[in-house]
Amino acid sequence: MNANLEQIKQEIIVGAEELNTSREVYEFKKKFLDGKTGKIGLLMKEMKNIPPEERADYGKGVNELKVWALDFLGELDTKMKAKELQNRYESEKIDISLPAETTTEGNLHPITLIRNHLIDIFAGMGFEIFEGTEIETDYYNFTALNTPQDHPARDMQDTFYLSPEFLLRTQTSAGQIHVMEKQQPPIKILSPGKVFRSDDDATHSPMFTQMEGLVVDKGITLCDLQGMLDEFVKKIYGEDTKTRLRPSYFPFTEPSVEVDCSCFECGGTGCKLCKGTGWIEILGAGVVNNKVLENCGIDSNVYSGFAFGIGIERTAMLKYGINNIKLLFESDLGVLQQLND
Ligand code: PHE
Repeated sequence: MNANLEQIKQEIIVGAEELNTSREVYEFKKKFLDGKTGKIGLLMKEMKNIPPEERADYGKGVNELKVWALDFLGELDTKMKAKELQNRYESEKIDISLPAETTTEGNLHPITLIRNHLIDIFAGMGFEIFEGTEIETDYYNFTALNTPQDHPARDMQDTFYLSPEFLLRTQTSAGQIHVMEKQQPPIKILSPGKVFRSDDDATHSPMFTQMEGLVVDKGITLCDLQGMLDEFVKKIYGEDTKTRLRPSYFPFTEPSVEVDCSCFECGGTGCKLCKGTGWIEILGAGVVNNKVLENCGIDSNVYSGFAFGIGIERTAMLKYGINNIKLLFESDLGVLQQLND
């Protein structure tokens, strides 16, 4: 009997030499140790055919073989798995010294950056955003803004008409009317958007971006406008920047002003950017004309307001020292990357 056990042990030792994978070890192990069909398992079943006086020895021998086989094959399985893992590591190895492929990162266009910056500043002052439409009626773009059909101020803006009634808005001021028609004061809105004029040279483009501001409430004056603008230029051009108002004319504001800020390049002493004047024109503004308030059903005896309109491309050109507006529209990555630096 012991010879039989020894034979099985040898069979395991020799057979194990042939095994190459943990899967094979598993199958091999089953062949011997499976409770019902395994060779060692079957030896246990033989017990009943063994003479009673030999049973104790027999059982002990089988059990020792079983413990040995479990141990031997368990160890083999552990070794095999370690080898397989090592093989996987080798085959899936990543060469971390390889230079990475360069990918270029996109970023926001300078116009979008300035637009977002301005929105942030004004949102911080409590302005809400109103986005109007690019196609407007003549009424909203001109007539309601106190610029009737034959008004000479219409010549200030060369308009793209789509029909006698419809046009591409020439100014975000059209949004003022929509807001005031729908809402009674207090009103505090900011309206960014594209505007269109038949105008094309180094500093003008047929499409450009404006940002309109409108504040209407009881007791609003030109001083409120100036106070707000002072805050605004400090935030965008630096703490030492000052503003000045010059008389101007817009049909929808009375009085109307052109707003300059002290040159942020030379600090006011005079340079190329400010053409030696020390001042840079940044926007148009004024006290909302009573006629415009009345056109929108707002009582001008009770309420007053101010409005301003900023050109975003102009702001970008000043900020980045660009002398040709086309650079902002040509999507030349060489230029845009410099502006983002
Ligand atoms: N809409 C004017 C323009 O496009 C700017 C402006 C806005 C002036 C609001 C006064 C008040 O030139």
